[in-house]
Amino acid sequence: MAQRVLLIIGGGIAAYKSLDLIRRLRERACEVRVVLTRAAQEFVTPLSAGALSNDRVFTDLFDLDDEREIGHIRLSRDADMVIVAPATADLLAKMATGQAGDLATAVLLATDKPVLVAPAMNPRMWDHPATRRNVRQLVSDGVHFIGPKAGEMAERGEAGVGRMAEASDIADAALQLVGGRSEGPGPLAGRHVIVTSGPTHEPIDPVRYIANRSSGKQGHAIAAAAAELGARVTLVSGPVALADPVGVDVIKVETAAQMMEAVRSALPADIAICAAAVADWHVVEAAGQKMKKSNVGAAPTLALAENVDILQTVARRGPRRPGLVIGFAAETENVIEHGQRKRKDKGADWIVANDVSPSSGTFGGDRNTVHLITADGVTSWPPDSKDGVARLLIGQAADWLSHHRIDV
Ligand SMILES: Cc1cc2nc3c(=O)[nH]c(=O)nc-3n(C[C@H](O)[C@H](O)[C@H](O)COP(=O)(O)O)c2cc1C
Repeated sequence: MAQRVLLIIGGGIAAYKSLDLIRRLRERACEVRVVLTRAAQEFVTPLSAGALSNDRVFTDLFDLDDEREIGHIRLSRDADMVIVAPATADLLAKMATGQAGDLATAVLLATDKPVLVAPAMNPRMWDHPATRRNVRQLVSDGVHFIGPKAGEMAERGEAGVGRMAEASDIADAALQLVGGRSEGPGPLAGRHVIVTSGPTHEPIDPVRYIANRSSGKQGHAIAAAAAELGARVTLVSGPVALADPVGVDVIKVETAAQMMEAVRSALPADIAICAAAVADWHVVEAAGQKMKKSNVGAAPTLALAENVDILQTVARRGPRRPGLVIGFAAETENVIEHGQRKRKDKGADWIVANDVSPSSGTFGGDRNTVHLITADGVTSWPPDSKDGVARLLIGQAADWLSHHRIDV
């Protein structure tokens, strides 16, 4: 049966992308009804939204005809779900405080259906303590988020986290949300999970870098498993040759420093899982131009400096520490002993220790043999696919959360 989506378009530059979202939703056999805020009409017209949705567009709470024929309460109830895209800083603030001063906010307050928001705003607006507070409130109210992503902003020279997620990803996430609804919300619904995945690349010069053999398969599988259980997932990924998991917000980075920054911006979270193989060192003063054999003479010596430790930073005590911090220990010998030491040294709650020696086939392969190290001891899991390990780990994390009260 076709899913009925109520799409609320807010007044941001990204509103034009929501016209594409209407098309992506209709391609997926959804019926789309559109509400435009007053500010949204400065960016896109009701005429284009109506032509693409093939339905009339709603803009005014006090429109006598609209109210008589449909009414704002029915508008919110007739749909199977509500999407807010772009969700402006203003709309997030109004939603978080339960305001209902216009049609969009009145519908959002009156709805009893799942709500998916796709924020888009200047990175400073997204980072502002007021927006962080509103996001935390909305997550705990059960609102689902997709994005924002990192990248260039419409404003010249501005970059950071604030771009709206891609229309096709929003459409996929929306269908996943309503598709899973008949089985009830997943155990991680309303929770935010940050996962790091893949290797990092530390530049030597513009064409060379230091990397490692991590494929990202385990981290990506964990992100997908968390999304399957209903979490809002931010996946911070180093360079990998993998498709983005469906319904997951993916932030792509290259270096350890960029990965740290992306994780910092994605906080707060209920769970952080550091599965990336982050380089321990970077090259001090990477060359600005390609190093030439003829210029360097003898083989060059690279001066290395330690990278910031992402797991240790995330696990540090403080108001932004996730309730459950899980690290991975990739070892080639004494796997359990090294994993136990890493858990203590880094302050992580759990360590998933695995053997990555070449004979294990773990790096790049599809299977993994892991030991879960917690304060209570060590559990060695039987060899499994990386998807299987991911589901088991996320299942245990969801179970842990259900027994521990944490506030993000
Ligand atoms: C050119 C322009 C672009 C804007 N882009 C954004 C944006 O991307 N995100 C945002 O949160 N606000 C943006 N704003 C501010 C909103 O339009 C403003 O807060 C408005 O009140 C939002 O109304 P709404 O939330 O009811 O749609 C922009 C304003 C202008 C003039």
